[in-house]
Amino acid sequence: MRKPIIAGNWKMNLTAKEAKDFAETVKNKIPSNKEVDSVVGAPALFLETLVNEAKGTELQISAQNCYFENSGAFTGETSPYALADLGVDYVIIGHSERREYFHETDEEINKKAKAIFDNGMLPILCCGETLDTYEAGQTSEWIEDQINKDLAGLSKEQVANMVIAYEPIWAIGTGKSADAKIADEICGVVRKKVANLFDEDTAEKVRIQYGGSVKPENIAEYMAKENVDGALVGGASLKADSFLDLVKAAK
Ligand code: 13P
Repeated sequence: MRKPIIAGNWKMNLTAKEAKDFAETVKNKIPSNKEVDSVVGAPALFLETLVNEAKGTELQISAQNCYFENSGAFTGETSPYALADLGVDYVIIGHSERREYFHETDEEINKKAKAIFDNGMLPILCCGETLDTYEAGQTSEWIEDQINKDLAGLSKEQVANMVIAYEPIWAIGTGKSADAKIADEICGVVRKKVANLFDEDTAEKVRIQYGGSVKPENIAEYMAKENVDGALVGGASLKADSFLDLVKAAK
């Protein structure tokens, strides 16, 4: 049995004070991490505050990006070594907003995944197709190609421990979620690709989230599906009450 994992992706929202208030509110109310992993993905600015707030609790903290080198002359980038040193647990990589607006390539995303593992953290790797690709019926091929490139050179053990998020770009922030049947089908495509690239055991272990307009009102439909092990949530993760409703619904 795979343990559910709910991760909030705050994107570029909230202030340090709001982040602290959020953590103070949720940290002692989340379900046990024996039942569900509850993760907050925050801007780098607030990670230290959040890690300190989360100490001794079961709240886990994720960055939203990092660079693939540990140190050096890379102005404006965030070191995975420094993130791990702070006590950050996960790093979201390959989000469609980073691929689209910041031109991140699969090759860079793959290097980031390796750097995250090398520093003892876990990647939450996003994949997903545009509306054009979806309407052309090419979602599976598109996702398989991303997974193939993004997981290249990783070990079975690494892949078994990481998280993959299927986020159809047309469902992000649009209020237009892929229905649970589509989410299950494409999460299944991801799992099958992992089985082909690695083995069945690895595919059985890797946790796969759906992301795109998930909210407390619809999360149960996704969690009921065989291949969906959790959700990566944007808008509905910004308010403490809503985040708590999501993690409670997922256990
Ligand atoms: P929304 O939940 O706001 O649609 O965002 C999804 C997302 O991009 C999470 O990474």
